[in-house]
Amino acid sequence: MSFEFDGKVCIVTGGTLGIGHAVAERLLQQGASVVISSRDAAKGDEVVSSLTKAQSLPYSRLSFFRADICNPAEVRSLFAYTLERHGKCDIVVANAGFMASKSFTEELDEGTDDWMNVIQGNVIGTLLLAKLAIANWHKHKIPGVVVLSSSLSGVYPNQIPHHCVAYPVAKAALCQFVPTIAMTLDRLAKRQGLSTSPIRVTALLPGFVWTAMWNKMGRGAASDTAPSDLENRSNSAWSVLAKAVGWTPMSKIVDAYITAVTDPTTSGKCYMVMGTAGPMVPYPDPRITPTYEKALEAMVGVSGGGGSAVKGRGKARRGKGKL
Ligand SMILES: NC(=O)c1ccc[n+]([C@@H]2O[C@H](COP(=O)([O-])OP(=O)(O)OC[C@H]3O[C@@H](n4cnc5c(N)ncnc54)[C@H](OP(=O)(O)O)[C@@H]3O)[C@@H](O)[C@H]2O)c1
Repeated sequence: MSFEFDGKVCIVTGGTLGIGHAVAERLLQQGASVVISSRDAAKGDEVVSSLTKAQSLPYSRLSFFRADICNPAEVRSLFAYTLERHGKCDIVVANAGFMASKSFTEELDEGTDDWMNVIQGNVIGTLLLAKLAIANWHKHKIPGVVVLSSSLSGVYPNQIPHHCVAYPVAKAALCQFVPTIAMTLDRLAKRQGLSTSPIRVTALLPGFVWTAMWNKMGRGAASDTAPSDLENRSNSAWSVLAKAVGWTPMSKIVDAYITAVTDPTTSGKCYMVMGTAGPMVPYPDPRITPTYEKALEAMVGVSGGGGSAVKGRGKARRGKGKL
């Protein structure tokens, strides 16, 4: 039996948990060889062992490489390891990402600099990996695909405490990278007589997906399904937003990643993937802006402080018909 990704080699950063784990699992099911990475080697070995057994895979198909996305030398080693092990890399799912461990106001009070780390990992390390792959494909004139994990926070302002200020900024940077690099690659391709570049880059902007990321914020157990009593937790700021936008099932998220890898028309574009209904939505989408802004206003009101300022800003922006 042959599968869509037979013979393809993929890197999935943050492949030990949540979205990355689910995407890696699907790529393996569809025939790919996968290198997953994260910082936790013990967890990595555990995931390799469990996925290999569950899918009765030869050990050559899945491996773990320990790399902190914040550390450029380790990101370079991850890419070099993949080339050495498999002789090539066809697909990069640059998914590892994290929120701040402190809110920005805590940082101001304590004089710490956690938010620079958020930029370092979510932007610099992530785009370094993308660049290493693109450079390799460009040099050898071969096709390749990068899919970046951005976020709804990359488009809409957010007040979830541990998003800090840097998280939405970081995710927004990925959204701007995608059309810019795609245009650049297309221009290079035209010089070589091609109509479009064989190198593709897409960003996905998940809405709320119940993963360990939320658990790290100290709220709820890690699971791929949001707790059933979530809607009752109206005193938590983030649940107001999540309720408005809707939790996104993992299967929908994974389908979107597979579409981004396989569908050339997604190149150079960013897609929001949120809620239970509907397909991937190219952003910005005017349909969700009023719902989101209303929820954001309610959220800031609930969490206390700054409500009127944001309300005013929201009205002003709506008045101008913009985000
Ligand atoms: N869940 C959501 O609602 C949501 C919404 C929008 C966007 N996203 C984005 O989607 C991506 C995946 O999120 P998720 O919810 O699946 O998160 P998750 O469950 O917390 O998993 C994150 C993965 O990234 C790894 N990771 C974290 N920090 C890392 C670092 N410095 N270096 C290397 N690996 C690191 C983690 O492993 P270690 O900690 O062991 O290193 C883990 O494998 C992230 O980029 C996130 O920003 C998620």
